[in-house]
Amino acid sequence: MLRVLVLVSGGGTNLQAIIDAVAAGKVTNTSLVGVISNNKTVKSLERARNAGIPAVSVSPKDFPDRDAFNKAFLEKVDEFAPDLIVLAGFLVAIPAAMVQKYSGRIINIHPSLIPSFCGVGYYGLKVHEKALERGVKVTGATVHFVTEGMDEGPIIAQKAVCIEEGDTPEILQRRVMEQAEWLLLPQAIDDIANGRVTVVDGKAVRTR
Ligand code: GAR
Repeated sequence: MLRVLVLVSGGGTNLQAIIDAVAAGKVTNTSLVGVISNNKTVKSLERARNAGIPAVSVSPKDFPDRDAFNKAFLEKVDEFAPDLIVLAGFLVAIPAAMVQKYSGRIINIHPSLIPSFCGVGYYGLKVHEKALERGVKVTGATVHFVTEGMDEGPIIAQKAVCIEEGDTPEILQRRVMEQAEWLLLPQAIDDIANGRVTVVDGKAVRTR
């Protein structure tokens, strides 16, 4: 069983998609061992607890500086002894020490087709605002391994989503979630849990 720890910052619809996919048997060989949020009040913690998954918060606001937070954060992650860490709308930079310790064992969902609309400053609704501002006709979502460069790790899976006349950032965000994110992220976990993803020469390859 792959021990999966999910990190969240917001509403947790991706977390819910993972919980539901595990419960429905669409994601196998996986145990959701915990949820960590950087925000004490988010709906995500409730979603986790409703599913019987231990959920805790660790906020940078509770520490005197970033180093102290990073240390406590890594200790909290270690307590869950995860095989895989899933960033499901986690908007805090992952400390370098954590990326190194869990190298090849952290994945992230990003709401665009990387390398478009990604990197510093591109998160959540802002990604969709930028896509609409640029006037692109197709966007989507990407699941990738996390490396030290932001949104630069090997791409596991992507799915395109069309932009439609009259889209607002909110409408587009919802469509990208429904048509791409909520499918891609559980699928990637299932693929990893069942040994179907390997990284060769810096690129993720799906086998079988
Ligand atoms: C999702 O759209 C996710 O792709 C995005 O935050 C949202 C979280 O929604 N993540 C990023 O922008 C990471 N750079 P959720 O809390 O409802 O899952």
